[in-house]
Amino acid sequence: MEAKRREPRKALRIKVISMGNAEAGKSCIIKRYCEKRFVPKYLATIGIDYGVTKVQVRDREIKVNIFDMAGHPFFYEVRNEFYKDTQGVILVYDVGQKESFDALDSWLAEMKQELGPHGNMENIVFVVCANKIDCSKLRCVDESEGRLWSESRGFFYFETSAQTGEGINEMFQTFYSAIVDLCDNGGKRPVASMSISFTKEQADTIRRIRSSKDSWDMLGVKPGATRDEVNKAYRKLAVLLHPDKCMAPGSEDAFKAVVNARTALLKNIK
Ligand code: GTP
Ligand code: MG
Repeated sequence: MEAKRREPRKALRIKVISMGNAEAGKSCIIKRYCEKRFVPKYLATIGIDYGVTKVQVRDREIKVNIFDMAGHPFFYEVRNEFYKDTQGVILVYDVGQKESFDALDSWLAEMKQELGPHGNMENIVFVVCANKIDCSKLRCVDESEGRLWSESRGFFYFETSAQTGEGINEMFQTFYSAIVDLCDNGGKRPVASMSISFTKEQADTIRRIRSSKDSWDMLGVKPGATRDEVNKAYRKLAVLLHPDKCMAPGSEDAFKAVVNARTALLKNIK
């Protein structure tokens, strides 16, 4: 019997965009992957750079249309029409520039606004690049903070350096492979594609602890609270954040901080 010849599957076409503050390294990350090189001189992207590349994901050939956006606010009018029909977003910040990390929320907001009320951010694959990790001396956003922000939103997180190439291939492979899964699933993000191993309450609590101004604030009690109140608040946080129970990035540090805050407070309460 003659074996049926399998028709080769049609090449999949996808659209991806880059987002993030000016100078975070979006163009360099793309250049590192596509051209295997790094240019130290800063050449700001003017409006949009467009390129097409072919990549292989498992048994599939994928045609990727990359729209590399300018991060500068000045180019808002140029980039705003490029958000639609996107399957994947590369969100980039510079680990030595806190503002570029803080700006991630406003990048999401800009995209959401441009997509309008019918746009659906749920069915887009996001990967966050914590970039310039080669400049370790200047680093001010640590891994757990970036990972927490990303994974609590169901986004992938990678530490990258466009200069050394660290993390770049892994990041693109994971990104493209997740986009292919999304397309195979009829354009919807597969439910199990990224199971979040911690709760929103845990993520919010870690963020609150990181930004608390003193030990009272950290435990969430009023200054001058009693021993009982401090212990009660402590126990609640300990159950939520105990490293045996909490898989959220940064939970260990948050737990230690809470233990120290309680010790410090109890020392001064009669
Ligand atoms: P806009 O196009 O203006 O939005 O900026 P961009 O995000 O595309 O930044 P670009 O890739 O042009 O990089 C900005 C500057 O950072 C350049 O001088 C790069 O050489 C430098 N740079 C980018 N990635 C890295 C990195 O991983 N490590 C180091 N040390 N420098 C980097
Ligand atoms: Mg650029």
